[in-house]
Amino acid sequence: MIQGLLHLHSALRYLIVLLMIVSLIVAFYGWFGNKNFLKSHKKTHLFTHMFLNVQLILGLALYFMKGYHHMISNISQLPELARFYAMEHMSAMIIGVVLFNIGYHRALKATRDKSKHMRIAIFFGIGFIIVMAMIPWPFMHSWATWF
Ligand code: HEM
Repeated sequence: MIQGLLHLHSALRYLIVLLMIVSLIVAFYGWFGNKNFLKSHKKTHLFTHMFLNVQLILGLALYFMKGYHHMISNISQLPELARFYAMEHMSAMIIGVVLFNIGYHRALKATRDKSKHMRIAIFFGIGFIIVMAMIPWPFMHSWATWF
């Protein structure tokens, strides 16, 4: 069960990276190109927002199932891998996903199409940097894997 969830969580990173990039291209193109905010744009951002929240739920489930919450009290004595998952990965990813959620909902509330694109571009842009930096890529951590 845990292994299955871990594989799913790991594989979903690629779909999420793709969706975030597509959303950012749509938002910056719409913002700087003064484009209308179309239903298809909203749908693209909705998918990005949804899959990030699915990933967040999977991550939280893994976090408690693998017992990382018990490690928080002696965080400074943990080896790098355990510290990364118990603290850094979890907290930064929550902040990242919250930024995507705020951006999506604030964009829907904006009255002008340009503001909708701009809000997505800014909030998703900052969220993207945080999420990309906190994915355990093998070129950043010797213990990380591609799948
Ligand atoms: C939203 C973006 C997120 C992405 C793209 C992401 C990506 C990943 C990746 C690629 C792995 C490595 C999987 C493997 O080694 O097979 C991983 C592991 C993990 N993630 Fe996330 N994650 C995200 C959010 C979260 C959140 C919010 C939490 C917790 C609150 C979390 C908790 C975990 C845990 C517990 C592991 C397993 C660590 C282990 O192998 O012991 N993740 N994540």
